[in-house]
Amino acid sequence: MNFPKGFLWGGATAANQLEGGYQEGGKGLSIADALPGGPDRFKIVQQPDFDWTLDDQRYTYPNHVGIDHYHRFKEDIALFAEIGFKCYRFSIAWSRIFPQGDELEPNEAGLKFYDDVIAECLKYKIEPVITISHYEMPLNLAKKYGGWQNKALIKFYERFARVVLTRYHDQVKYWMTFNEINSALHFPVMGQGLVPSNGANEMQNIYQAWHNQFVAGALAVKIGHELDSQLQIGCMILYATTYSYDANPINQLATLKQNQRFNYFCGDVQVRGQYPVYTKSILKEAGVDWQQLDITQEELKLLKTNPVDYIGFSYYMSSTVEVTTADIEQASGNLIGGVKNPFLKASDWGWQIDPIGLRIALNELYDRYQKPLFIVENGLGAVDQIDDQHQVNDDYRIDYLREHIQAMAGAIDDGVDLMGYTPWGCIDLVSASTGQMSKRYGFIYVDLDDAGHGTLDRYRKKSFGWYQTVIKSNGEQL
Ligand code: BG6
Repeated sequence: MNFPKGFLWGGATAANQLEGGYQEGGKGLSIADALPGGPDRFKIVQQPDFDWTLDDQRYTYPNHVGIDHYHRFKEDIALFAEIGFKCYRFSIAWSRIFPQGDELEPNEAGLKFYDDVIAECLKYKIEPVITISHYEMPLNLAKKYGGWQNKALIKFYERFARVVLTRYHDQVKYWMTFNEINSALHFPVMGQGLVPSNGANEMQNIYQAWHNQFVAGALAVKIGHELDSQLQIGCMILYATTYSYDANPINQLATLKQNQRFNYFCGDVQVRGQYPVYTKSILKEAGVDWQQLDITQEELKLLKTNPVDYIGFSYYMSSTVEVTTADIEQASGNLIGGVKNPFLKASDWGWQIDPIGLRIALNELYDRYQKPLFIVENGLGAVDQIDDQHQVNDDYRIDYLREHIQAMAGAIDDGVDLMGYTPWGCIDLVSASTGQMSKRYGFIYVDLDDAGHGTLDRYRKKSFGWYQTVIKSNGEQL
């Protein structure tokens, strides 16, 4: 294998999915705190009457407790250090720093928590990699302002980003502005705070929200670089390598369009600093009026002068496009839809597993942008069995990760500049799409079930020792 010296091996989490302590240290409610647990969570938030009101009689709210990392972060980071992490990707809960989102002054107790998390990482020489906003905004911003479609959020995010960048820039070199920004095309609730009752069904709102996020992200890049020109501030996109089902040019064209709409649009703006040439065409197809979007010349200049330094992306699955017939099996479960690919197996949740697709993704992205890439999420959500001895033999997870790491090595051979790899949910945590605990990704098992029962004790899975060897050998021993 050929992983460069200093390759950033690590793991990734997000505040709302593991911290818990949802009302401690002055934290305000976030949109994630209002998402019901269970596989129907997306269906529930898509009901026309869903208005973010918490209803303890009908629903459970697993993000309230997460895996109690808020109280156990020292134990968890010690386990990450034992695996040998070179870096740890986590996010800062916006609602800990600005509980309502629109205050002028930050919540010092919230900042103190991240002071401690960062200090703990640095104690073990683990490089922190911070996502400024990961599927979590103060609930007040969604309820009172309607989420990211409202331009007022730009200044709230700017204030938040300025506070955390100023406080941590001398300790944290790697940052990302928004998690999976492009995911809003399929589920605008988590990234943009949009549900049908505040406009999620209107593509016009989604594109306006994106523009506002592009501007806010560019401001974060500007602030960061003014503090320290060496800071590395990336975007973060959900990338699903997309194939045409066959050689039919109709499907090939549909694949190209799907790539533009989903895989490339946000990255093109954030990396190249300008809207791509195909913008008006995809907007027209989506029924969005470009003239009605609130976009100023000043904002376009800001985007142009503040592109990101690297491309962070998540990769779990590929997608296959077939538009000429309705008589074909869909890939049930695939986050971004598409038809079933006969060459691929799927995870327990129907996500189509495709390691070669990762090599293709790395080549496509590097070829397109010529900037360093960082795989900040990848992994297998699976049901794990723990035995009486607290052993979890997750060979299926090891196989999945091994094949993806081999694909990364292949891409490095192809000439791709890859900075690092942080598999998702390095410790079991609450699933974003289903709110389940039983959908586990970790090297570390957490004793907690979907109903919220369990000791919350942590146990090392078989993959824990395996990943330890991978990191120690810098990817030589898989
Ligand atoms: C990504 C998100 O979509 O995938 C994470 O950035 C999420 O927040 C991860 O947890 C896995 O998805 P899920 O739905 O299995 O938790």
